[in-house]
Amino acid sequence: MKKTIRDIDVKGKKVIVRCDFNVPQKDGAITDDNRITAALPTITYLIEQGAKVILMSHLGRPKGEPKMEFTLQPVADRLSQLLGKEVKFKSCPEVICDTIKETADSLQEGEVMLLENVRFRKEETENGAEFAKELASLGEIFVQEAFGTAHRAHASTAGIADYLPAVSGFLIEKEVKFLGGAVENPKRPFVAIMGGAKVGDKIPVIESLLKKVDTLIIGGGMSYTFFKAMGLEIGTSILDEENIDLAKALLEKAETAGVKLLLPVDVVCAKEFANETETVVVDREQIPADMMGLDIGPKTIDLYKKALIEAKTIVWNGPAGVFEMPSFARGTRAIAEILAESDAVTVIGGGDSAAAAEQFGLADKMTHISTGGGASLEFLEGKVLPGIAIIEEK
Ligand code: 3PG
Repeated sequence: MKKTIRDIDVKGKKVIVRCDFNVPQKDGAITDDNRITAALPTITYLIEQGAKVILMSHLGRPKGEPKMEFTLQPVADRLSQLLGKEVKFKSCPEVICDTIKETADSLQEGEVMLLENVRFRKEETENGAEFAKELASLGEIFVQEAFGTAHRAHASTAGIADYLPAVSGFLIEKEVKFLGGAVENPKRPFVAIMGGAKVGDKIPVIESLLKKVDTLIIGGGMSYTFFKAMGLEIGTSILDEENIDLAKALLEKAETAGVKLLLPVDVVCAKEFANETETVVVDREQIPADMMGLDIGPKTIDLYKKALIEAKTIVWNGPAGVFEMPSFARGTRAIAEILAESDAVTVIGGGDSAAAAEQFGLADKMTHISTGGGASLEFLEGKVLPGIAIIEEK
């Protein structure tokens, strides 16, 4: 068991918390603040306990340079609103400067500050010891709360723990409980739904899940690579050409492992990748040569529903179609609705499927939606995430 902020005394201490405030923005405005609200229980707890709270995060990939389009100023503003109190913020290009040191030193109990984007320094992603030491020098305790970045061994997610005692925040605790619980000790039947465009990105997680699930459902763009592996014609559908053989191997592995593997039996096709276009529903053996599959069809939805209705644990990663376009959102919406109505433990592994649940207004009907994209995939694969490995054991 990992130590959490509940296990230590934080009163009067300078506590440096690594969050993942890598939130999407449009024209400088935050379009989805889930990653910020997900860290609030930890921040509020630290405030109430009288800690002096120093928050840090990355935003985007500024590649080691202080590029102002990646400033955390909008996050500081949103956080101030959400907390109903000032979050001290100074955009210092080197992340740590004299003003930052002075602000950290003069923080009062319950006060909060946020550092500028740690990726403004190239040593961050290099896990540079000097930068890790500099960050550590601001505080007395390190709290890991950045689940979304826990698969990165960076100065602020891993290196810093060489210089400070490291405990987890409530978000990390929750992510480990639900994602870990689902794959380590699932109530059965355990069904996983994997979607998304590329098989290549999901191979390790599919291989790992094949050892654990009772049923594996494949949907989304990657289905067409599996169809090709089965010798079917896929028209102009997306194909992950270099992974056709791997898809074939996965089909064989599922059979050997006795796992029921469900692929779409019918698909919604169109000539163009556009919402306003004519669509046809065809069986998977009949995809026209000049059309591409962009969603699962109604027979497939029924097939998946039967498997999902019996499930006691469901893990979902990746949409069933191009859900961003209403013409091709039906399959993904159907899956989200089945999960929302299910009594099973329903865990969504971040990224696009989390965005889909949000778009359909069903996010709060899920047991857990991970804040991690890549991190949740690596976690489901069974990998040890560097940002979690550094948290002290109880
Ligand atoms: C994410 O959005 O997956 C995390 O914030 C990690 O970002 P990165 O892929 O740029 O490291």
